[in-house]
Amino acid sequence: MIYMAGNWKMNTTVSDAKELAKEISKNPIPENVEAILCPPFTHLMAVRDVLSGSGYKLGAQNICHEDNGAFTGEVSGEMLKELGVDYVIIGHSERRQIFGEDDALILKKVQKALEHGLHPILCVGETEEERDTGKEKDIVKEQLVAVVSKLKEDDPLIVAYEPVWAIGTGKTATPEQAEEMCAFIKKEAKKTLGKEVPVQYGGSVKPENVEEILAKPSIDGALVGGASLKADSFEKLVKGKA
Ligand code: PGA
Repeated sequence: MIYMAGNWKMNTTVSDAKELAKEISKNPIPENVEAILCPPFTHLMAVRDVLSGSGYKLGAQNICHEDNGAFTGEVSGEMLKELGVDYVIIGHSERRQIFGEDDALILKKVQKALEHGLHPILCVGETEEERDTGKEKDIVKEQLVAVVSKLKEDDPLIVAYEPVWAIGTGKTATPEQAEEMCAFIKKEAKKTLGKEVPVQYGGSVKPENVEEILAKPSIDGALVGGASLKADSFEKLVKGKA
């Protein structure tokens, strides 16, 4: 199965989002593809209604590590589930870097997602400096093992490998670099969890490079920011070619 997820980040108004979801969901999804749209929290209900019956799945960009109570500004797993959310992006590098999320908090979020029947998409990835100093595998392994070591074999985890230096920069990892790390993630996850997990690549994926990225044996899809905000480019990503 190929997992193609659009991370809209903090973009679009509700009306833009409805329009975009309407345009995207007109396009058929190939049989082997799971297509997922992740709008901002405030747009989830409206986008769910537009996507209804289309086969496109709804994802959220974050989840609270607790169920309810005094957590001003947070959104719980139960709230997301009630809105028809199936997937949730957890530990995106923007959450790690801008909002200070660490591996311990990210683990709790993944556990909450699973408790509420949501599929977590766990993001891992190194910074440019970490790659330049040859630490990329250590960093990715640390982020991965912090979570998978606490999960059960049948937990439905997806991992997204997103090198921080390739996000929103137009600088894509080469398909070989992406493959090398995605294969490493699969191997490490299998060692700890006892099974292979699907691994997406993320970071400046666009119609022009999606085909060569998806051709790699250890890459099972993509987590896409910028190129998911236009219906025609997301259509090409879902098809897997420009
Ligand atoms: P990008 O973002 O496709 O705009 O590089 C990817 C992501 O942050 O998930």
